[in-house]
Formats: sequence, structure tokens, C-alpha cells
Amino acid sequence: MKKTSNQMLVIFGASGDLTARKLIPAIYNLYKGNHLPENFVVLGVSRSNLTDGEFRKKVVHESSYLKEKINGDAEDFVKTFASKLFYEDLGDKYDADYDRLSKRISDLNTKYSTDNNYIFYLSTPPGIYEVVAKNLSAKGLNNEADGWKRLIVEKPFGYSLETAKHLNKGLQSYFKEKQIYRIDHYLGKETVQNLLVTRFSNSIFEPLWNRNYIRHVEITNAEKVGVEKRGGYYDKSGALRDMFQNHLLQIISLIVMEPPIGDSAEAIRNEKVKALKSLRIMRDHETLFQNTIKGQYIATEIDGKKVKGYREEEGVDPDSTTETFAAIKFFVDNWRWKDVPFYVRTAKKMPTKVTEVVIHFKSPHHQIFKDTNAFDKDNKLIIRIQPDEGILLKFGVKVPGQGFTVDRANMEFYYSSFADNYVMDAYERLLLDAMQGDATLYARADEVEAAWEFVDPILDYWKNGKDVITHGYPAGVWGPKNADDLIEGLSMWRNPGENLADDDSGYCVIT
Ligand code: BG6
Repeated sequence: MKKTSNQMLVIFGASGDLTARKLIPAIYNLYKGNHLPENFVVLGVSRSNLTDGEFRKKVVHESSYLKEKINGDAEDFVKTFASKLFYEDLGDKYDADYDRLSKRISDLNTKYSTDNNYIFYLSTPPGIYEVVAKNLSAKGLNNEADGWKRLIVEKPFGYSLETAKHLNKGLQSYFKEKQIYRIDHYLGKETVQNLLVTRFSNSIFEPLWNRNYIRHVEITNAEKVGVEKRGGYYDKSGALRDMFQNHLLQIISLIVMEPPIGDSAEAIRNEKVKALKSLRIMRDHETLFQNTIKGQYIATEIDGKKVKGYREEEGVDPDSTTETFAAIKFFVDNWRWKDVPFYVRTAKKMPTKVTEVVIHFKSPHHQIFKDTNAFDKDNKLIIRIQPDEGILLKFGVKVPGQGFTVDRANMEFYYSSFADNYVMDAYERLLLDAMQGDATLYARADEVEAAWEFVDPILDYWKNGKDVITHGYPAGVWGPKNADDLIEGLSMWRNPGENLADDDSGYCVIT
């Protein structure tokens, strides 16, 4: 097991939702799992006027997000956890003199022997990341002479290629790249990490992982929910920025990449960057028109109940053309993937929540059995990221009886079969990695920029292109009807059900 040194976690934006919803529960799980170092404290920093006690009450004792987790745990055990939490009010803005903050950090460090090792977690609006980094550096809190210093930042990493570059440059003027950890919670998911293992620890898959055997690759990321209370943020973002530029391109890079020379953070990230750089960037409007589909959910009625359309959501412009559905077809310009189309879609208000990768293999080169040529009978490898996590392989079997009639059978593996293994939640895993200085599952600056390079022209076309259409789709169906047009030939999207082995659930409505 890797060592976790004594340290302090300083969370900026500590009175916000993410801290209570994700960070504190993740730290509690680490505490419960005995993963925290002997000397460890959390210092919440924000612009709300809270005492240590009020902060503890808010994020531990009275937190609805922690309620279930602490239920059944001894009172003293929970109290000891809460006693590791402190709070510092920064006043009315983040761009302030960090004198008092720096003194508080130093006092806590001395009192609790955290060895001058600090993680600064920026759970604040991205607009102030640079300001916080600047003010920390002004107090020497980026200096690693007496202990390591790390900076974790949440997405979005920029709004476009230009702003991402600007942000990277800004942060790098105060912290070295190796001190910066860009969190993408999809990389914290076991099933996303398992993409590497599926590919590189199985000699039955890797030899087939190329244009000679793969016809096309399909990735679906569907959410049942709409924009909920985040309409204000989402309307300026849209599905492409919110999900595709980060989470989906991370998954894509793991599917596309060449074998790394080892499992070090740099070896893996170097290959991911190369993969992202090999995506063919679509620039001319004709190509963009033919290979991208943009949609938005509209109001509908389900079981007699009215379901809101996107434009009626709180915080959304009533004339908004922001996409809640994005489907992209693209190619990868390298030896391995030449001419293999990738189809990727992400959307809100779909019939079910599901993220999966489908590798569609080519038909056998010479058909000797009748009726085997039907496209839906080709081999498929379905890697389910969530839910019902697992892997499904579809292969041909002989139907009993005379002659050689071929049907498809399923071979499945379910993560739930590891019932005895505790599976860390994404934030828990990622936080522990950062605490141990392992950046493998964090995005590097060049990775983020390569992702924006691919996405930027699509965003620009969707914003300024003359022939762009925002297709409406009733909340609760698999997106606009023409989404299947993107996939030429005999195929269409696999519209998966809640369970891995459910085949095309078709166009249905949510309940
Ligand atoms: C976030 C997006 O990054 O990921 C949300 O901002 C989205 O809009 C969420 O709902 C999805 O994450 P998960 O883990 O539930 O698939």
C-alpha cells in the first residue's frame, strides 16, 4: 500500500454544495477505511461567516449527505472525525490578503504536526482559480522546500481552447505543473480505470483492437435527469462542454491510446495526449454539418403529468439553443484507427441513466454459414461504465437442430461479483491519490488543451454556423429521431436498458 504522509487539506469554497455533497463524505469514508494519515486536518475556507463548530455542524452532524454514512457509527467516532475539521472565514472576497489564512494554516500545522504538506482544493467558481493561486503563492504557500504543496482544481478547465490555455498559464505561473491536479471524476470510476486493464492485460482483446477487426466504436452517456437546479450554469455550458470535452474525451482517450510503456502517471498520460491529438479535427462546415447533431429536450406529458422542457427550466433563457443532446461522429488519424468511425453521444432527459462503450467488430471476412451476415449478429464487446457495471461479449453460437443456424449468445461479467471488495467512490479514490501524490487519474494541462482543440471548432460551428439546427426531442426519449442518421449502414445506436444485458430498449418514455 502506498504511504500517505501527514497533511492538511485546505478546501476553498468550503461552504458550497460540493464540499458537503462530495468532499466531506469522501473524506469520512477514507477516515472510516483507515486511509487517513495519523496527522490530518481539513481547513474549510470560504466567504461565509462560520465558526469551526458551525462548519462541523453543517458538513458533518447535520449534513443530509452524511446522514446515511454516519448512521450506526459510534458517536465518539463521528465526533473524532468532526474534530479534524476547521474553518476560516476569508471575508468578502477571494482576492484578499491571505495573512490571516496563512497564519491559521501555520498554527494548525504546528499544533497537529501536518509536516507542512498541504493540498489546496479549489471548489470555487473557476473564475477565481488564478486569484487564489496568486494569493497562496504570495504567502509562499506554493513553496515545497519544507513540505509538498498541491493544488486540486475542479472542472470546467476553461470555456474554450483559448481560455483553457490562459487558465493553465495562469496557474502555472504560481504552481508547477506537477503540483496541479485537475480532477475529472470519471477517471475516479473503477470501470473507467478498468478500460486500461481490459485492453492491456488481455491478449484476447488487444490484438483485435484496431481497424482490421473493429468496424466502429459507439459510446453513450445518457442521464435521466434534466438540468435540475443548475440551469444558470448549464445554459452557458451545454452538453459538449459539460460532459464531452472532459469526461467523454477521457474515456475516448483510454479507448484510442497506444499501450503505455508502464503504469506511471506520465507514461499513461503521454499516451492519452497522443491519442487526443490524433482525433481528426473537423473544421469545414460541411463536415461539421454531417457529423454533429445538436438537440434540446422539449416539454412533454408522461403518464398524464407535464414534464418541463429545457427552456422552461429555472435559470435557462426561454429562447435558448443550448444543447442538452450532442452526438458526434469522428475519425482518428493514426495507423491503428484509420477509417474506423467513432460515434459518441451524451444527453440529459433520456429514458435511463447509462454510460457504456460498445466495440462493434467486423463481420467474419468469409461467411460460410447462412444468415450470419445480419449486422446485429456481429461480435460486440460492451463495456458498461455505469450502472450495472460490467462487460458483455456477444458471440455466435449454433442454434441446436439441423444445419448451421447462428444466433448470438451473451457472455457477461458483473462488477457486483466482487461483492466482498469495497469499491471507493470516485472522489474518495481521487482524493486519496492526490494525498499520495499520484496524478495518474488527473488531467494534465496538455491533455485538457488537446481536448479543447477538438471541441472548439464544433462549438464555434454550433454557435455561428448558418445551417445549424437544434433538434427538439421530447424529454424521455433517446434524443432526436435523426440521431440514427449519423450511423450509416445497417446499424443504429444501441439504446441500452438499465441492465447490461438488456438489448435495444428502443424509444421509450421515462416514468
Ligand atoms: C458532471 C456534469 O460533471 O457530471 C453533470 O457537470 C453531470 O451535468 C455529471 O450530471 C454526471 O456524472 P455521473 O457520475 O453521474 O455520470
